[in-house]
Amino acid sequence: MKFFLDTAALDDIREAASIGVLDGVTTNPTLLSREGCPPMEQLAQICEIVQGPVNGEVIGDDHETMIREGRKLREIADNIVVKIPMTKEGLKAVRVFSDEGVPTNVTLVFSSNQALLAAKAGASYISPFLGRLDDIGHVGMDLIREIMVIYENYDIMTEVLAASIRSPLHVVEAAMAGANIATVPFGVIDKMFRHPLTDSGIESFMNDWKKLGHDIG
Ligand code: E4P
Repeated sequence: MKFFLDTAALDDIREAASIGVLDGVTTNPTLLSREGCPPMEQLAQICEIVQGPVNGEVIGDDHETMIREGRKLREIADNIVVKIPMTKEGLKAVRVFSDEGVPTNVTLVFSSNQALLAAKAGASYISPFLGRLDDIGHVGMDLIREIMVIYENYDIMTEVLAASIRSPLHVVEAAMAGANIATVPFGVIDKMFRHPLTDSGIESFMNDWKKLGHDIG
């Protein structure tokens, strides 16, 4: 499973990259607005840190505007993925980009029918939003499981990017369902590292080593 960081915060992106666990980044207008910098400059800085796919989202609501914005975003760097909302106009833009070989991520996917249509339009990635489905009383993970079965039935190459992840359990369940990618807030990645038995194990090993009275070198 690939890990993307779901943030536009440069410090968090640098930290995850330095640990060696970062395959890419997803941003959206909300995440960029939190950073208080001009968004195109912020995306350019992210692309300097990250070699893998960096998602920048269009904001237009008709396909001509989305295509124009997508082209602007692609001028930032070659690793920009054009993130496009799951609408009819959005899928028209996805088809144009797909024919040109420009990678796209269809975002705000909340049903398997949307996932089928986005793949048909040529999306490179789709983003089903788990947490937001959980928030309204649905089981978000059921959607990932359903999409994985459907994509497998038809050998669909579109990658499933589990989004709106809120906890380490979401990551495990998305991995068990076979999602290609999880995009994760930094706080969740941080929690994934931790286990109390790891902490207590390190502490007892260190205490026992000290009794030896020697350094390693
Ligand atoms: C995905 O690309 C989105 O940026 C993100 O996962 C949305 O998550 P949220 O529901 O926590 O805002």
